[in-house]
Amino acid sequence: MKSFLFLSIFLTSLYSIEPIQPLPLILDDINLNKAKLGRVLFSDPLLSKDGTVSCNSCHDLSLGGADSRDVSLGVENKKGNVQSPTVFNARYNFKQFWNGRADTLKEQADGSLHNPAKMAMDKNAIEKYLNSSDFYKKQFKKVYATSSILYKNAIDAIVEFEKALVTPNSRFDQFLYKKIALSDNEHKGYVLFKTLGCIFCHNGINVGGNSFQKFGLMKDMPHIMNTPDRYAITKNVRDKNIFKVPTLRNIEYTAPYFHDASSKTLYEAVKDMSHLNLGIALEEAEIQELLAFLKSLSGDQPTILKEK
Ligand code: HEC
Ligand code: HEC
Repeated sequence: MKSFLFLSIFLTSLYSIEPIQPLPLILDDINLNKAKLGRVLFSDPLLSKDGTVSCNSCHDLSLGGADSRDVSLGVENKKGNVQSPTVFNARYNFKQFWNGRADTLKEQADGSLHNPAKMAMDKNAIEKYLNSSDFYKKQFKKVYATSSILYKNAIDAIVEFEKALVTPNSRFDQFLYKKIALSDNEHKGYVLFKTLGCIFCHNGINVGGNSFQKFGLMKDMPHIMNTPDRYAITKNVRDKNIFKVPTLRNIEYTAPYFHDASSKTLYEAVKDMSHLNLGIALEEAEIQELLAFLKSLSGDQPTILKEK
């Protein structure tokens, strides 16, 4: 994987193709009616066991699709063990979850609904609730042409909504589309991002989300028991503290940072990353330039949130 990344970065630089690709400005693969139904389900707390938690509780669509708490809180105030990642642009991640244990958004959504520390609902309870609602019966009939709502249709609608949660038109994407020039600081930050080596792990359309890498590559971090890293899945000692590289799009809105919320601000996160993963102590001006570049990755709110 690593050698593939280095090779592809070498090739892209050879042909002066940028190592980061812009998000599409228009999505042509969304079924709007399904996505709009998914939008309602995403924010419906009655899909949880005690009626208090929706997907939106931990993936606040007005907070960059993430959660400002250190660990998420599920039904009956049960604490999870990690910071919740953003759902924005999740469709472009090669796997879902910090340790990539779900291959698809479908598998992921299924997991969240059942997880006892999240929504703690089973398939039958969800079908029972949805079929007792005139609103949902009407909507599902319109979209799926069924008079009895099936759990799999509810998942399908949620996933369609998630597929539409794309944040186009960031300043950096506009630069990639050759519509604008970056500011002096943004540009210096981008050059640093490439020359320091951040780009080796954070690249591609999601500026991350396409490989597993070590948290603390240059400075071995202690391994905490029950951390949801790759080791939790493979039990291979070399996988300790290995995580999916997260996306850096809209990163200014999704504090705190890292799976364990160990950095509270983006400033700290940039300093910690350079230290832990590159073994570099940055100068103040360099941090400011990297911050300017990272902020240029913030895009527009997904259009599906504005649809009537
Ligand atoms: C109680 C809080 C909570 C609720 C409710 C919740 N999530 Fe999550 N979600 C999380 C946390 C925490 C993670 C990361 C867990 C991990 O990696 O081990 C996550 C991960 C994800 C991811 C993977 C993102 C990535 O980059 O890996 C997606 C997509 C997602 N959730 C969608 C949903 C959907 C859809 C729902 C509703 C059906 C939902 N979540 C409900 C907290 C929550
Ligand atoms: C060797 C691979 C690697 C390199 C190099 C790297 N990162 Fe990361 N980055 C990661 C991984 C893995 C994580 C997730 C770590 C965790 O949460 O445990 C991460 C997380 C982050 C986060 C927090 C994201 C979030 O949602 O919480 C930021 C910000 C970040 N990196 C910025 C940078 C910057 C800036 C650089 C260059 C100075 C850089 N990274 C270099 C692999 C890397």
